[in-house]
Amino acid sequence: LVHSARQVVTITNEDVFYLSGRAMKSVEVLQNNDDGVAVAIDDDGYIAAVGSTQYVRRLWKDDDFEKIIDATGKCVLPGFVDAHTHPVWAGDRVHEFAMKLAGASYLEIHSAGGGIFFTVDSTVKCSSEELYQSLKDRLIKMLKAGTTTVECKTGYGLETKAEMKLLQVLQRAKEELPIEISLTYCGAHAVPKGKTPEEATEIIIRDQIPRLKNMMDQKLLSVENIDVFCEKGIFDTEQSRRILQAGKEIELRINFHGDELNPMKSAEMGAELNATAISHLEMVSKKGIEDMAVSGTVAVMLPTTAYLMKLKPPPVHEFIEAGVPVAIGSDFNPNVHCLAMPTVMNLACTMFGMSMPEALIAATLNAAASLGRGSTHGAIQKGRVGDLVIINANKWEHIIYQLGSHQHLIDIVVKKGKIV
Ligand code: NIG
Ligand code: FE
Repeated sequence: LVHSARQVVTITNEDVFYLSGRAMKSVEVLQNNDDGVAVAIDDDGYIAAVGSTQYVRRLWKDDDFEKIIDATGKCVLPGFVDAHTHPVWAGDRVHEFAMKLAGASYLEIHSAGGGIFFTVDSTVKCSSEELYQSLKDRLIKMLKAGTTTVECKTGYGLETKAEMKLLQVLQRAKEELPIEISLTYCGAHAVPKGKTPEEATEIIIRDQIPRLKNMMDQKLLSVENIDVFCEKGIFDTEQSRRILQAGKEIELRINFHGDELNPMKSAEMGAELNATAISHLEMVSKKGIEDMAVSGTVAVMLPTTAYLMKLKPPPVHEFIEAGVPVAIGSDFNPNVHCLAMPTVMNLACTMFGMSMPEALIAATLNAAASLGRGSTHGAIQKGRVGDLVIINANKWEHIIYQLGSHQHLIDIVVKKGKIV
């Protein structure tokens, strides 16, 4: 039981799957000036009630609860959902950060064998145990920053054996850590050196995806999503389509990188395949936005990447007005090293012109929708998973406003009813 909170950011409308259009403009805040607001979570970790402290205390006695949290003067938000991360790798790229500050572009560094290739070289040399320990350290930091559910991609193995190893490292994290992981296979993150994009596409479709399916059939892996980097000089739109289609055939959700640095008609292609989500989209076309609205595809915006790479902001409000649900993610990877959704929300507001309610919805309910969890996660509502962030502030907006201060603001993080 969490009681006496000053504000609880909630959703009262049932059957909510995601929010778009005008609905993204305001979040529902419960406030009760007499005795505050309470959230009760049942033994299975699901929200049993939200309402005034008095109301919830009438339903149950304090003894009915294993744990009671006094949230007097504090605010309770839904646990954050990070819609896009690349968290398993070795070999940081702090030296490339310096190169980028001096003016080198992302694709220039990539073409010269740096970027993803630099990280792949270091990652494939690393043992599973070392990779797991660094992954664990990163995921625990995310949890402390309020992320209770996170999408995690492979993609720094590229060759079949290495990709399978990364999947297993992520699977172990999924089983052992309190943060909830939506696992994404991203073997098509770059074209391995010495191969053509066409050869790499064939290997993914003929070798990697069947192996993945085999491991899933044997219950050794539970992969949910398939991703490709659909970009000029990486995988073109037709190769991306074939890879995504092959993933769809083994029942993975389509969730991929598109229309980032060059217009690729990724959005049109993704909508045609009924993609669950497409990330980046700085270079999306008008038609792409319309198609995504029809297919119900979530647009995942990545403000940290746009910030570092000085990209033109994606047309966030055109998406919202067209009825496309907008989510955000940290894109944590060795290029942009950001683990904290509060920072991402701040950048979504300052860089992309989102309002604070839009950024919060994008970082909770809509990010959950991008991972097929739109009716079970991402909001404080009866029946949903009990994932909460309790902050030391009397208005929820402080978590966005106080840039870089989340470690001082976040008091308690609750995942499925347990303090973590
Ligand atoms: O989303 N675009 C591809 N993937 C990452 C970058 C990965 C890397 O540079 O290592 C992204 O920005
Ligand atoms: Fe990414």
